[in-house]
Amino acid sequence: MFSGKNILLGITGGIAAYKTANLVRLFKKSGANVQVVMTPDSKEFITPLTLSTLSENPVYSVFSDDGTGEWNNHVELGLWADLFLIAPATANTIGKMANGICDNLLMATYLSAKCPVFFAPAMDLDMYTHSTTTQNIQQLIVNGDIIIDAKTGELASGLVGKGRMEEPENIFNFINEYLKDGLPLSGKKVLITAGPTYEQIDPVRFIGNNSSGKMGYELAEKAIRLGASVTLVSGPTHIEANTTIKKIEVRSASEMYDRVHENCNEADIIIVAAAVADYTPETPSENKLKKTDNNLQIHLKPTKDILASVGELKKDKQLLVGFALETDNEEENAKRKLVRKNLDFIVLNSLSNKGAGFGYDTNQITIIDKSNKVKNYELKSKSEVAVDIFNKIISLLK
Ligand code: CTP
Repeated sequence: MFSGKNILLGITGGIAAYKTANLVRLFKKSGANVQVVMTPDSKEFITPLTLSTLSENPVYSVFSDDGTGEWNNHVELGLWADLFLIAPATANTIGKMANGICDNLLMATYLSAKCPVFFAPAMDLDMYTHSTTTQNIQQLIVNGDIIIDAKTGELASGLVGKGRMEEPENIFNFINEYLKDGLPLSGKKVLITAGPTYEQIDPVRFIGNNSSGKMGYELAEKAIRLGASVTLVSGPTHIEANTTIKKIEVRSASEMYDRVHENCNEADIIIVAAAVADYTPETPSENKLKKTDNNLQIHLKPTKDILASVGELKKDKQLLVGFALETDNEEENAKRKLVRKNLDFIVLNSLSNKGAGFGYDTNQITIIDKSNKVKNYELKSKSEVAVDIFNKIISLLK
């Protein structure tokens, strides 16, 4: 896929820069033309001589070389590239990319580039999860840049966590896949709901359910890998979301309803996977309820059906996916929900199989679409189930 392609490699000042020699070799061996642009600090980690020798091209890092009066034309470099890879991408460079700060040749080239831009973050774990980094990465994804996400492992600081640059072979394979097919959800906005909702009875008690949120979080993770930008409206869970996901935390069904409605107009694909409470206490007590010898009655009122309300507003171009958890007349009930809530397809969760549903890492689903096509799937990990669901989505987008 790389034969004859012009690849511009941007290297920034992180320890993972030493691995870029290997990246240049992989691209060169596969027939690509490679040029390298470095930030001044990255030269502390790998020498321009190594990279110019391997790339067989001069390496640029400053706007003009001393004394010659000539300038390194970043506009030309940006236009030359069929593909711009920034690896490693430090927190500093990611911050500049997200905010258009142009204080070195690499940044000027980034702002001049017209080609797809890939970036492979690398930094220490706390920098990676810092809210400013998270927001900057989200901004880049929204802008259309493609993340090759960092891995979890041992870091230069000696700490273990997320922040290791993806290995050169995997970066190479990732881009190879992209060149083959393009990322199927590039430029798409995906909105996902996940987890349970908690309906407050009094300040210390609530009505909840056993949903772990795993299915929704797996879907969010897959959507990112497929090139989408993802907003995840999540009820209370213990799961940490990938930092590239825009996560909105909620507690109650009514809060989830509001956040979903604030975000659904923009979304291309909406997946409603949350286990939303169907009822909520009519008048939650302001004070902690006291124990008495009598039975306690709590009056519940129905919550608003989030999925059905989104179904009513759904635009032609939007794709809406719901879930159904059934214990009897499974297919028939799911089909009814599909029609009533105006869905493109419904994912029927079976509770009759051991290992499927709430709390498990596995799930067994049936997908029913609006043309009444029914497909049964095996018991699989929730991560694999997420792949099946996105394969269905991608087939409907075509
Ligand atoms: N759902 C929702 N808002 C609610 C209730 C459900 O968005 N207040 C969504 C769920 O996220 C799921 C789908 O509707 O995608 C079906 O949920 P389910 O609990 O199976 O069905 P209900 O519509 O609640 O119907 P029932 O409880 O009668 O089966």
